Amino acid sequence: MSQNAEVTEFLPVRTREEADDAVDRMMACQEAYGHCFWAVERKADGAFIGTCGIVPPRDPFTEYEIGWRLGRSVWGQGYAREGAEATLAWAWSHVPADTIIAVTVPGNTRSWGLMERLGMTRHADEDFDHPDLDEDDPLRPHIFYRIRRPAPAPRNPL
Ligand SMILES: CC(C)(COP(=O)(O)OP(=O)(O)OC[C@H]1O[C@@H](n2cnc3c(N)ncnc32)[C@H](O)[C@@H]1OP(=O)(O)O)[C@@H](O)C(=O)NCCC(=O)NCCS
Repeated sequence: MSQNAEVTEFLPVRTREEADDAVDRMMACQEAYGHCFWAVERKADGAFIGTCGIVPPRDPFTEYEIGWRLGRSVWGQGYAREGAEATLAWAWSHVPADTIIAVTVPGNTRSWGLMERLGMTRHADEDFDHPDLDEDDPLRPHIFYRIRRPAPAPRNPL
């Protein structure tokens, strides 16, 4: 998945070893915090189709971050939205955060389109250059989205 040219159009390509390291980091995150960018399995057949989930604040951020990545063959079927909505619903009841952020590059319309469909708001004043990427790397400039914890339903006065 992380070597497919379309999946990695806006992401670094990972070697097998780097992909394994990423899985190890996520398993450590799950162990320490009870959540991570989880594996996504298709309900119909249990096939592994990608990742989606939430990680605690990590440098340079100070807020919890939602993220997603699916295999090319399953795009356009609503799985990312279903996983992201389930992640948000889970997070609001399990994570001590009033806000959740998401970041991507301006060209990744599928990813920021999903952020907008989820009700996230662009904060252009918080756009940033990714600290791990070289100054001339076209993927360095990132855009920033945030969603706030939904207000509790008003109490039934009766
Ligand atoms: C970003 C990414 C996860 C989005 O996946 P996706 O499948 O396009 O996202 P969604 O689940 O929101 O599906 C949206 C499309 O499915 C369609 N769809 C089909 N059946 C659907 C259903 N039952 N329910 C909802 N949407 C459905 C929608 O109409 C929509 O199509 P449109 O964009 O043409 O309007 C995917 O493109 C990806 O993995 N990209 C590479 C990795 C990456 O860049 N990750 C983000 C890093 S910041």
